[in-house]
Amino acid sequence: MDKFIIKGGSTLRGEVNISSAKNAVLPIIAATILCGDKCVIKNCPMLLDVYVIIDALKSLGAKIDINKISGEIVIDTSEVSDSHISSDLVRKMRGSFLIMGPMISRFGQFKISFPGGCNIGTRPIDLHLKGFKALGADVKLDHGYVEVSTRKLVGARIYLDFPSVGATENIMMAAVLAEGETIIENAAEEPEIGDLASFLNEMGAKITGIGTDTLRIIGVKTLNGISYKPIYDRIEAGTFMIAAAITKSKIKINGIYKDHIKPVVAKLREMGIGFQFRGQELIVDGRNDLKPIDIKTMPYPGFPTDMQSQMMSLLGCVYGTSVITETIFENRFMHVLELKRMGANIKIDGRSAVIEGISKFNGAEVKATDLRAGAALILAGLEADGETEISDIYHIDRGYVEIENKLYNIGAKIQRVKY
Ligand code: UD1
Repeated sequence: MDKFIIKGGSTLRGEVNISSAKNAVLPIIAATILCGDKCVIKNCPMLLDVYVIIDALKSLGAKIDINKISGEIVIDTSEVSDSHISSDLVRKMRGSFLIMGPMISRFGQFKISFPGGCNIGTRPIDLHLKGFKALGADVKLDHGYVEVSTRKLVGARIYLDFPSVGATENIMMAAVLAEGETIIENAAEEPEIGDLASFLNEMGAKITGIGTDTLRIIGVKTLNGISYKPIYDRIEAGTFMIAAAITKSKIKINGIYKDHIKPVVAKLREMGIGFQFRGQELIVDGRNDLKPIDIKTMPYPGFPTDMQSQMMSLLGCVYGTSVITETIFENRFMHVLELKRMGANIKIDGRSAVIEGISKFNGAEVKATDLRAGAALILAGLEADGETEISDIYHIDRGYVEIENKLYNIGAKIQRVKY
């Protein structure tokens, strides 16, 4: 097992390169099943979650070559069959359920165990299943397995009760080869969905309405293999913005789309942090005194739930009272207990956390309870007085490419050790 040891108090300087978005890459890898051809994914982030979906595709018969240095992966799905994926693999990551849409589209049936993932809520899949049923599929739930089967998928109008990211992606992937037109209303608008739609369109799909809450998909007969470079990771970029702010530093972030990060920048600006965009580069200046703020997580373009815990670390050491309300996941405050070990003054009241900023965190032994909670602890550790030890960092490895090296290279005192 690995852990991070961080000596707080360093000022950061220099520049950091952002990797491609995990949440774009996972559905894109699943979507390669649809073409039964060879696809090349460039600049792929070699993360634990990416290896999980790669292993899932391999167990279905895909041939995958990985070049770890260039980050290029070649996926040949011509010999994929509707065989079995081990439930251990599926339970490791909720994103593995994204295989369902492409599999039923290509083979008319698939059976998979209920998905796992971060421990941040119950995370049902009812909206995914509602979409598959609307497209004409039968859904059976049996002993922890979900079985979806159909003679053929036929386009339909589907209204999502909530703009679920995964359900929008899964239904879109199921619909691209269905007969006729599918309309997904109240679709999620996250940039990663737009990226998946662009990937599918380059393969030959006909999807319009990208970036809006209404996606229109006209079914096509076949898709072709392509070469594709996914978008940059807005959550990784946001995490480094907070790293600059919490250490009162000025750094440059390369690989960022101004539009994608708007909700995070708006709140950080409100606190007093300076931003200068130049194309896909950004200079963040966190050297000013900061003000407390209130935040409510919302579906995109609202403030992302995936940045909530990192913001809590920052607000935890900004003088005054801030309130964070989590509306997306019901159990996403597990980092609060760990931040309290570092001296934070935070009270939870239902779905809100009331934060009274302290002057400095104290280094402590803490545990990453999920991916973004782990990132929040790194950020608090960078600010803290003394040494912070973070265990269970496999959660962090699920979604950040070599975060310790990226931070070390801009001046942080952080190391990975075995224990
Ligand atoms: C994706 C992201 C995750 C992010 C989340 C919200 C990936 C791989 N993961 O997760 O990082 O935190 O979006 O931005 O892209 N829900 C239902 N029924 C469903 C599906 C979802 O009730 O069938 C609920 C969930 O319980 C949750 C909310 O909808 O409360 C949002 O979930 P969803 O948008 O589906 O998130 P994921 O796709 O799992």
